Amino acid sequence: MNLAPRIQEIHPFRVMELLARARALQAQGHDIIHLEVGEPDFPTPAPVLEAAQRFFVEHGGHVPYTPTAGLPALREAIADYYARRFGVTVSPERILVTTGASAALTLILAAATHPGDGWLIPDPGYPCNRHLVRTFEGQTHSIPVDAADNFQPTVAHVEQLWRANTRGLMLATPSNPTGTVLTLAQIAALAEAVRARGGLLIVDEIYQGLNYDGEACTALSVAPDAFIINSFSKYFGMTGWRLGWLVAPEGWAPHLEKLAQHLYICAPTPAQYAALAALSEDTRPLLEARREQLLRRRNVFAKALFSSGLILDAPPQGAFYLYADAAPFTDDTQQLAADLLEQAHVACTPGIDFGEHRTQTRLRFAYATDEARLQEAAERIARVLQSR
Ligand SMILES: Cc1ncc(COP(=O)(O)O)c(C=O)c1O
Repeated sequence: MNLAPRIQEIHPFRVMELLARARALQAQGHDIIHLEVGEPDFPTPAPVLEAAQRFFVEHGGHVPYTPTAGLPALREAIADYYARRFGVTVSPERILVTTGASAALTLILAAATHPGDGWLIPDPGYPCNRHLVRTFEGQTHSIPVDAADNFQPTVAHVEQLWRANTRGLMLATPSNPTGTVLTLAQIAALAEAVRARGGLLIVDEIYQGLNYDGEACTALSVAPDAFIINSFSKYFGMTGWRLGWLVAPEGWAPHLEKLAQHLYICAPTPAQYAALAALSEDTRPLLEARREQLLRRRNVFAKALFSSGLILDAPPQGAFYLYADAAPFTDDTQQLAADLLEQAHVACTPGIDFGEHRTQTRLRFAYATDEARLQEAAERIARVLQSR
C-alpha cells in the first residue's frame, strides 16, 4: 500500500485497543466501569428531541441539505446566545455551523496552514489537533505544560517557543485532558502575544458551560480576531448529532464556507433544527442541572481517587476529566491502564494518548457515570494500586 507519508505518521488512539478489550470482557459477563469515553451518560435533552421530532413531522419526512454555512435561524440563534449569555456582539455572517467541533478544526487548519507551518499546541492536549495539523502538511510545535502552569500555555511559552515558521497558537479552555481553564485576562495576554507576532489564535471552547469554579466565558470578549470553536456535543449533550460551530475572524468565513461545500456540503439538517431548542432559554435550567450533577461527580470522584494514592496536582475546573498522576506507582500508565482493566474492570485512558510531555505517568478519567459507580471505580482502583 502506497500510503501518503502524512497518513503513515497519524496514530490511532491507544485507548481503542483498551476499549476493544473492555468490550470483550463485557461480552464475557464482566462488569466494566467505563471512564475512558469523552461523553457523559445523559440522554439528549428532551426539548432537543422534541424539536427534532417536530422537524420530521412538519417537513413530511423531507430532509434536504441546508445552506453550507448552516440554517440562517441557527446562525442567528448562536449570535443571540453570545449576546445573551456573554454580552458579546458577533455577526451571524461570521458564524459557520459545522459537523461538530471536529469539522470546525478541520476547516480552520485546512484554510490557515501553509505547508511547513508550525502550530503551537499544548502537550498534553486534544490529540486530534496535532494529527489534523499533520494532515495539512503542517508541524506541531509542542508547548510542554505542567501542573505549575495549570496545564495551560503562558505568554512566556509563546515568547520562548515561537519560531520563524510558527503560524499560530491553539488553546482549549476548559481543556481536554486536564479540565483546566484559562481566565479572560490570560487569554487576552496570549492573544496579544500572538497578535504581536502576526500569528493566528484558535480557541477551542467545546467544554464552555461545563465550568465548576467560576462563570463560563468566551475568548470572543477579549480576542475578537481569534477563531473560536464550539460544539453542541458536550454542554448541550448532543455528541452523536454531530453539530458544532465556529466563529471566524473578519474576512475568513467565505473561504471556510467554500471549503465546507467541498468537504461535506452541510451539517446534518435534523440536528440543526434540534439545536435551535438546545440554545433556547427554556432548556438552560436542564443543562445547568446536568452541570451541577457533573460538579458533584467531580467532587466525589476527585476525593475518592485522591484516597487511592493517585495525585491530582491541578484542580480540574471544567469539562468532565480528571488527569491524575500515577508516578508513585508506575512510569508506564499504558500498562497500568491495561492492569486496571484486567484486574479492576475499570477502563480509563493512558496519558500517552494526549502527547509526550510527562504523559507516561498519567491517566485520564472521564467522570461520565453516576456517583455510586464512580465511588465503586475508585475503590477497585485503590485495591489494584495497593497490591503493587
Ligand atoms: C477539545 C476537543 N475539541 C474537539 C472535540 C471534537 O468534538 P465534536 O466533534 O464532537 O464536537 C473534542 C471531543 O472530545 C474535544 O475534546
